[in-house]
Amino acid sequence: MQYLISDDHKITVPRILQMKAEGEKVAMLTAYDYTMARLLDAAGVDILLVGDSGANTMAGYSTTLPITLDEMIVYTRGVVRGTKRAMVLLDMPFGSYQSSVEEAVKSAVRVIKETGCDGVKMEGGLEHINAIRRLVECGIPVMGHLGLQPQRVNAYGGFALRAKDEAEAARLKADACLLQEAGCFAVVLEKIPAALGREVTNALHIPTIGIGAGPYTDGQVLVVQDMLGMSGDFRPKFLRTYANLGEQITHAANHYVADVKQSEFPTLEESY
Ligand code: KIV
Repeated sequence: MQYLISDDHKITVPRILQMKAEGEKVAMLTAYDYTMARLLDAAGVDILLVGDSGANTMAGYSTTLPITLDEMIVYTRGVVRGTKRAMVLLDMPFGSYQSSVEEAVKSAVRVIKETGCDGVKMEGGLEHINAIRRLVECGIPVMGHLGLQPQRVNAYGGFALRAKDEAEAARLKADACLLQEAGCFAVVLEKIPAALGREVTNALHIPTIGIGAGPYTDGQVLVVQDMLGMSGDFRPKFLRTYANLGEQITHAANHYVADVKQSEFPTLEESY
């Protein structure tokens, strides 16, 4: 039976854990649509995260708070269809798991059934530990997310570096251990000092995936539009841009507009 034949190349939870055990770094990027997922998967990205940052990159909101589970499901279906090898995770949006364990289970089960993705990511530590533990018990792989948690932007008053002081750093370390104990297979560390990123990484047997958390984490994640140079003036210190697609797209579209206006496109060779 075809469905019982496992694909050795597909990135799974045991493979991600093995990467940490063998000292292989995990390369993760965000993706929100079929076309980009296909390109990133072909490039060998290990994990494609359908981030709630789609609220910013796809929908143009200034925070991640407005995006809904329905919207995340639509994005994720496209990413799953474009992916053969990478693990695909859906980032549980604000309002889909905060009110109760039951709500978290209902949302995550819906995600798995309706998208075919491989697991979910959830922001938070102690305050959501029962929900995370229950999802893991249900067989749903969960990636945790500590440090800067963009769904808390209103409580923080901005997107500044987190865990600079000892008290917050101690809470973060305790939360990381709790997430591991609850069964998370990995944890994102966002915008924290590099020394703390190293400390947490050394304390855990599950991989840490950093974004603005320094070079010592077990893997890295970036928002794909940011690393491709499509996010305008958004150039935080932690970001490395690997292409300048923003300029190239504007230049190409500009060229097209000129061609159309001057009746240079299409030619007869480009016509039927
Ligand atoms: O939503 C997102 O893109 C994220 C990553 C930055 C980790 O949570």
